[in-house]
Amino acid sequence: ELPALARSHGIGLGVAVAVDPLVRDGGYQDVVTSHYTSVTAENTMKWEYVQPERDEFDWSGPDAVVDFARRHGLDVRGHTLLWHNQQPPWLSEGSWTGAELREVMREHTDALLGRYRGRITTWDVVNEPLVDDGPRLRDNLWHRVLGEDYIAEALRMAHEADPGARLYINEFGIEGAGPKADALHALVTDLLDRGVPLHGIGFQGHFVHGSVPEDLTEQMRRYSDLGLDVTVSELDVRIPEPAGQEQLEEQAREYRRVVQACLDVPRCVNVTVWGVSDQHSWIPEWFPGYTAALPFDGSYRPKPALAGMAQALERR
Ligand code: G3I
Repeated sequence: ELPALARSHGIGLGVAVAVDPLVRDGGYQDVVTSHYTSVTAENTMKWEYVQPERDEFDWSGPDAVVDFARRHGLDVRGHTLLWHNQQPPWLSEGSWTGAELREVMREHTDALLGRYRGRITTWDVVNEPLVDDGPRLRDNLWHRVLGEDYIAEALRMAHEADPGARLYINEFGIEGAGPKADALHALVTDLLDRGVPLHGIGFQGHFVHGSVPEDLTEQMRRYSDLGLDVTVSELDVRIPEPAGQEQLEEQAREYRRVVQACLDVPRCVNVTVWGVSDQHSWIPEWFPGYTAALPFDGSYRPKPALAGMAQALERR
């Protein structure tokens, strides 16, 4: 029902997936195929898994995700090319000249986008280019070696590797007004002015219960107004323990509000939740003391949050 509702609004509803349960766990598979229209690989398309050693590519995980999606009529959102996390040691610890690092970047981009051309049509090319809490470019490997134009270079390379793909910058902490949100907007405006192939902005949407920004719609609309697609790319709403029924009901309203925000923005094309169930969520490992961030509980029972998303989609 959710997939049909989402499609009737012209948006996708997605979920981040891990390879093991996706190929082995029937309950997990049922949630994915019954409630969503797209999948994002939570980890397996990241650099450390795709190219663990230089020139040694491992396609087993990415292929499993893409094949599963094809069998079930799901879209795949590609995640991610350049990110400061989950890089293999040979890459992060190498001492690179600009020319060498460009070559590495081109090989990786050509391999990944080339392999899935026509099957993965949107890519997070640059993930989290800004520092965690501020308005500066992050000091990552790419920035250090190639300078701040690495973002434009990466987008151009990706466009050459697959001219049909929709290319995104994916970022967090830009969901409400503030210096980081403005810094990204300035960066994006500059890229577009220079004719760099950039087609979309992913708002990650890792929210804390009680603080989903009021102006999410406005922030997304700023990019829609520039002619870009926008997505909520990694939605979750973490609740401080213990999460009782009241918190889950409030969380449902937050999920509803986020989906509604996407419907209110002309070029919002997808809302993706960051994990299949609370048992698979990254939250307990990364934010001890927080829990229950996703629309399904650890036993694959739908939570109020799922109904919250449906309510937004049922409104005409
Ligand atoms: O690679 C090991 C594997 O060998 C081992 O078997 C397994 C056992 O636990 O651990 C594996 O590494 C884990 C990896 O995910 C793959 O499962 C790491 O410990 C774990 O820390 C890592 O976390 C991921 C995180 O990115 C890493 O930065 C999360 O699952 C993933 O949800 C998270 O996703 C990011 C987005 O890509 C970008 N935006 C933020 C978001 C949340 O951090």
